[in-house]
Amino acid sequence: MTQIIQLHSPLVSLLVKLTPAPEIVYWGAAITPLNANQIEAFIDTQQRAVPQARLDQDVPLTLCPELGRGSFGASGIEGHHAGLNAMPRFEYLSHQQNDNVAEMHCLDQQANLALSITLALDSATGVLRKQMTLTNQSGADYTLNKLALTLPVPHRANEVESYYGRWSRELQANRQSISHGAWSAENRRGRTSHEYFPACLLGQSGFSEQNGEVWGFHLAWSGNHQLRAEVKSDGRRFMQAGELLLPGEIVLAENESYTTPELYASYSRSGINGIRASHHQFVREQVLAFDVNKPRPVHLNTWEGIYFEHDPEYICQMATEAAKIGVERFIIDDGWFKGRNDDKSSLGDWVLDQSKYPNGLHPVIEHVNQLGMEFGIWVEPEMVNPDSDLFRAHPEWLLAAQGYEQPTGRYQYVLNLQNQDCFDYLYQSLDKLLAEHNIGYVKWDMNRELVQPTHQGQASVNGQTRALYRLIDKLNRAHPNVEIESCSSGGGRIDYEILKRTCRFWTSDCNDALERQTIQKHMGIFFPPEVMGAHIGPKHSHTTRRTHSINLRGLTALTGHMGVELDPVKESESEKQAFAHYITLHKHYRELLHHGRSFYLDNIDDTHLAYGVSNGSQSIVIVCQLAMPDYALPDPIRLIELNPSANYHIKLVDYPQSSASLMKENAGWWESGELVANGEWLMNMGLSLPILDPEAALLLEVTELAE
Ligand code: DGJ
Repeated sequence: MTQIIQLHSPLVSLLVKLTPAPEIVYWGAAITPLNANQIEAFIDTQQRAVPQARLDQDVPLTLCPELGRGSFGASGIEGHHAGLNAMPRFEYLSHQQNDNVAEMHCLDQQANLALSITLALDSATGVLRKQMTLTNQSGADYTLNKLALTLPVPHRANEVESYYGRWSRELQANRQSISHGAWSAENRRGRTSHEYFPACLLGQSGFSEQNGEVWGFHLAWSGNHQLRAEVKSDGRRFMQAGELLLPGEIVLAENESYTTPELYASYSRSGINGIRASHHQFVREQVLAFDVNKPRPVHLNTWEGIYFEHDPEYICQMATEAAKIGVERFIIDDGWFKGRNDDKSSLGDWVLDQSKYPNGLHPVIEHVNQLGMEFGIWVEPEMVNPDSDLFRAHPEWLLAAQGYEQPTGRYQYVLNLQNQDCFDYLYQSLDKLLAEHNIGYVKWDMNRELVQPTHQGQASVNGQTRALYRLIDKLNRAHPNVEIESCSSGGGRIDYEILKRTCRFWTSDCNDALERQTIQKHMGIFFPPEVMGAHIGPKHSHTTRRTHSINLRGLTALTGHMGVELDPVKESESEKQAFAHYITLHKHYRELLHHGRSFYLDNIDDTHLAYGVSNGSQSIVIVCQLAMPDYALPDPIRLIELNPSANYHIKLVDYPQSSASLMKENAGWWESGELVANGEWLMNMGLSLPILDPEAALLLEVTELAE
């Protein structure tokens, strides 16, 4: 009898045929589990024809497609034993299944390579986790060039949405058809990267926020990666993701293994919102390492306020003003350590600058704590400036290839964390800092890409990435109450593997609210809002030089892990009152925002974004007019997640203060700012909106009324 594995959850089912090698035969909407008598009939329905003029037998698209089987698309595995065994072919050996976790073992007896494949379907969310381990059982070294995670999607998934970017413009969406050939992205920057976010969506043509079948993929890895969506000439298609290995990076001696990063994948029949909902719940339940019941404290980060100019007295004034507007965590950014007056020196010398802080950090921390705030601090442990005591003492600690000159990047080099002495030095410096001070939060930055990353002569992004994880893990164990943020020139290191050991991302160095609307929208497909650092920046954005009203800045930062990034001492009273207003609003909705179900609404006008969060009985919706509207009148907003037979109280909570210039008369109910409407009307006919000026936003609260 044909052996299959079945993994079922209320939303998603997955069936794997085990022989000759494991092959997914179904992955999509939940189906009734097959009973033993149905399996053969089911397999019959899936038996493919064999086309003319090709191999005379069917070639399955296995969980690790092999050229050695006649799978002519991108192989799941590439490598060799000194030129031999370049095209392995694995046969199924055995498997174990524990609830929704299946581990399959395969072997290529000729090449002496063993492959184990884990598939785990999360019962609550339907998120699928895939990981593979390759073991070299031969006496000869095996050079592994590639071991990528492949998942098939049906023929109708013929569009891919991927996310590209650069510094201060992360996570821009790119849609394209994948009817023939392949889409691929390759990241060799040694960090997750701004350029290619390791995630994509595949779906039916035109899939949208609310509609269409969509398959979502995210590779949990903070080093190099490759992503590929490929259509074979027979129409079958698959997504493939894995670590991008540099030449000679992984060489397995006898009985050594390589384990891939984890690929997280999901299925939705309700557009991108379904993917968003599954991943948010999954991350909240399975990935987050902090206590989700602890409200995410509102930050003030000093960076855009004072840059490198640290004067403890002034910083204390900033803290006093911060506390008045409702800040709960006060963070001093770059500039606090020995000799650090600009970005040209001192990285690596993790001791306090006594000339700036002659009385130490304690008085500042005590002041911050007395005001009822937590204290946080910035570090960039993986880096060293050539102008630093550390570099002068240990030039050999660089992650570099001997005999070549390393280019600096932002005037700095990368340290080799695989060098045990270097690792110990960094651990001890950070451990001391945290042990001696009452620090609740660390902003862990990483501002340079890896060039010729080499350890003991061998390319080594994998080793560097794993050493980074070990360093953070060790610090987390020693200081379990300290929360670490992952920052990398903004959003250069956003992924689930780093999130397992951190609590928040610095989403982007761009605090321009208009740019942030897009960045946050796409990050929010895979990450819940409570890990998305979102700060109100100064009126004039430091990165774009654009000017935005507090209305747009406040409502844009409101939905994430909120903060402010400016100098409150220099701000006017009215501006400070406005910060306090949005911070109060954030705290009022924080529980809903950080525990509810997020969604975006489909819209006919691309200049108009509508983001909402619902907890079942209450929602908020933020409508943002990004640019000049396409049409003179906005599309009535058709709400979702409502009960059609209930009535709802709708309240206009926040609205631009300036008078609208594109509108002569406001939509009917807006003058009173509230109304009661039926759920069925709101979902089907919708609610008319005012005409917002470009770069303005409004906030609606929608509350179900008791019968
Ligand atoms: C890059 C970060 O993204 C910024 O927020 C800031 O911390 C600077 N580094 C400090 O050097």
